Amino acid sequence: MFRTVVTTPYDDQKPGTSGLRKKVPVFQQENYVENFVQSIFDSLDGFKGKTLVLGGDGRFYNREVIQVVIRMAAANGFGKVMVGQGGILSTPAASNVIRKYGAFGGIILSASHNPGGPHEDFGIKYNGENGGPATETITDRIFERTRTIGGYKIADLAPVDIDKVGTVLMGDMTVEVIDPVADYAALMESLFDFEAIRTMFTNGFRMRFDAMHAVTGPYAKEIFEKRLGAPDGTARNFVPLPDFGGHHPDPNLVHAKHLYDEMMGPDAPDFGAASDGDGDRNLIIGKGIFITPSDSLAMLAANARLAPGYRKGLKGIARSMPTSGAADRVAEKLGIGMYETPTGWKFFGNLLDAGKATICGEESAGTGSDHVREKDGVWAVLLWLNILAARGESVKEIAERHWATYGRNYYSRHDYEEVETDRANALVAELRGKLGTLPGTSVRGLKIVAADDFAYHDPVDGSVSRNQGLRVLFDGGSRVVFRLSGTGTSGATLRVYIERYEPDKLRHDLDTQEALADLIAAADEIAGIRSHTGRNKPSVIT
Ligand code: G6P
Ligand code: ZN
Repeated sequence: MFRTVVTTPYDDQKPGTSGLRKKVPVFQQENYVENFVQSIFDSLDGFKGKTLVLGGDGRFYNREVIQVVIRMAAANGFGKVMVGQGGILSTPAASNVIRKYGAFGGIILSASHNPGGPHEDFGIKYNGENGGPATETITDRIFERTRTIGGYKIADLAPVDIDKVGTVLMGDMTVEVIDPVADYAALMESLFDFEAIRTMFTNGFRMRFDAMHAVTGPYAKEIFEKRLGAPDGTARNFVPLPDFGGHHPDPNLVHAKHLYDEMMGPDAPDFGAASDGDGDRNLIIGKGIFITPSDSLAMLAANARLAPGYRKGLKGIARSMPTSGAADRVAEKLGIGMYETPTGWKFFGNLLDAGKATICGEESAGTGSDHVREKDGVWAVLLWLNILAARGESVKEIAERHWATYGRNYYSRHDYEEVETDRANALVAELRGKLGTLPGTSVRGLKIVAADDFAYHDPVDGSVSRNQGLRVLFDGGSRVVFRLSGTGTSGATLRVYIERYEPDKLRHDLDTQEALADLIAAADEIAGIRSHTGRNKPSVIT
């Protein structure tokens, strides 16, 4: 019933910021999926008889790969696979299932916010027993294995009916098809004051949640509409589709522009939010005001105690290096630890496991806490709702009061997508080469006080991650950061992060791009963005 299939290695199976991501046709090559999955299994020890959690964001190719992984898990000796009904599990829900049932680990099929469809993106990611993305040690091991793999094990069994909740036997292995929403919704009820949020909806609070035809649709319907009593229609685009309805399931101001426009319009609801393909990102927009992910992290951290799950206070806050320093000021005021990590949620895992941080966030629209080991879009929306219900103020009032207390970090990210890899690498190499000469010089009247290539020393396991982004720091706390994305699937994406701190209350309502104009020009001058990329403007501004 089990066989070993002889295979030859592929040389491009290196996991990026968040697992292996490629176009669907790449994954459809002979044994491509099987090689990678076997390399994951070969890089792990001691899973015989244990449980593997399995699910995905429902994108094109999800169902096919689910069946392959189940058959390979059986042949490799797992005792049980817990799979989300229909092959669906949002990334944070998968993390929760791994933790709640003490599973050995999980495989999540997703390319997050990247488009889906026969010619679009697919991805495979391994999460460990803490529910978080595999550490770099494991992903390096997986990559090494993909380069030498000579065979994989698979069971010759009929496909499992993954649409029916229940348990079936597959050889010696059990396959349990679970409701993808139930455990997650119960976890959310344990963290937030559902009663207070329900009362707010009863009193006429209006919200719009855009699931972008991605995985959070069923979660939003159950939690916001059913359990919290928000009116029918609060969740939009709630049916997960393999191609996300042809859209880009990235909740930012470009791909969720319709939501932004609605929130800025005359009949705007009180609160607007969206999540991405696999449900771990969030977009927060109040009536007439967009909250940047960096600000959202700071505001959630400052108000977290209003939610029952965080009543005891936070142990610390962590943010990725390119995320603005807004949360640092909250940590300072609360007298708790602040940790600056490289981009990638996996770097928060150790801090959360060690109890050093409770809340984490990234500029890339990710916020989360120690309730799971992934960022969590619906969680961020619920924490906002809990805070709004407890304070009885609008999003705008909360933001303005926050800035008045802590000062405002004007912040924007400029992306140059699909730049030729050689050109992007040349930009980074040239800038890296001249970092040492920058301090003490001035560009456009802005004095550079420091410049470096960010390296992270993990305070828990002592590991060091180098080359995590080039930072240029100016007098007064302004900053420009340059790095290449680790999640793109074609060419290179240059990200330029621009930040300026403004303590003056009277200057808190400027247009962000205008407030940052001199730094934007300085960034181009320092790194030669236009000349290297051949572009005269970014493809996306967030
Ligand atoms: C994924 C990761 C995040 C990361 C983001 C952007 O969503 O889970 O941790 O911040 O990608 O990564 P990139 O390398 O494209 O800037
Ligand atoms: Zn995602």
